[in-house]
Amino acid sequence: MSKREFNNHLNDLTTKEWLKFQKSWFVHNPPPRKDDVLRHPAKYPETMAQEFIEFFTKQDGVVLDPMVGTGSTIVGAMRASRHCYGIELNPGYAEVARDVILRERENLGDSADHLTTEVIHGDAAEIGEIVAKYEIPPIDYVITSPPYWDMLHAKGAETQNKRRQDEGLDVVYSEDPNDLGNIADYGKFLERLTRIYIGLKPFLKPKAYLTIIVKNVKKGGKIYPLAWDLGKRLDEVYTLKDEKIWCQDNIRLFPYGMGNAWVSNTFHHYCLQFRNE
Ligand SMILES: C[S@@+](CC[C@H](N)C(=O)[O-])C[C@H]1O[C@@H](n2cnc3c(N)ncnc32)[C@H](O)[C@@H]1O
Repeated sequence: MSKREFNNHLNDLTTKEWLKFQKSWFVHNPPPRKDDVLRHPAKYPETMAQEFIEFFTKQDGVVLDPMVGTGSTIVGAMRASRHCYGIELNPGYAEVARDVILRERENLGDSADHLTTEVIHGDAAEIGEIVAKYEIPPIDYVITSPPYWDMLHAKGAETQNKRRQDEGLDVVYSEDPNDLGNIADYGKFLERLTRIYIGLKPFLKPKAYLTIIVKNVKKGGKIYPLAWDLGKRLDEVYTLKDEKIWCQDNIRLFPYGMGNAWVSNTFHHYCLQFRNE
């Protein structure tokens, strides 16, 4: 089938490109990071964000990331020639994201001139006020990743934390009580996070997709199934369509529990696909 014959309502991909994205798992290792974004403890690759954005939107579509960190989603959107808004609670990360976008605009030149990109310092829980203030148009697609509960505060993170501390890098996102990564109670965390995602619904176009990138969390010798809990809860408001598994294969293995118990090195994330139906 030629590209011309392919009646594509969702994106601008060819049939071959569409098919390639349909595999339910993929390996994507982040490219090396620049110094300023390294400060953020948990980013996803902008190259990966771009692939998702190119599948779930057409050119000039509007993308939102309600927890944008240092701006990977916005960079991915710019490279795909989409408009993008990002909300971030930590003003330091919002500032880094603005610098990253300026650099990206220099790289992309004239082709990015018509694109709207906005990094909004704020709390994603206040999406109604933010949409009104920044006049965000109806949204075609959301791609985002939340704090993985309070995992950055966890005991097991100590080795990595020590190394990051020595290098002057952040080990947690912030001390802000509105930062979901600081909520110690799993039930309360899940409740607040779910409420944020449900709060986006009035601002999404009908049939818009949401991709939430998340891991199940290990704590105190058991699993808290964050990905599955989100899938179940959000399916009451959106339709849970599918999952795609993001695997990383360039991370050092640690012998957790060796000789005593099964403890995996968890190098996969769930990219949950919801649709506003
Ligand atoms: C997993 S990180 C996102 C990283 C981002 N995808 C990137 O690649 O840079 C989660 C982010 O959520 C932010 N955050 C936590 N609570 C928030 C809230 N209530 N509103 C907005 N952002 C929040 C944190 O500061 C952190 O940067």
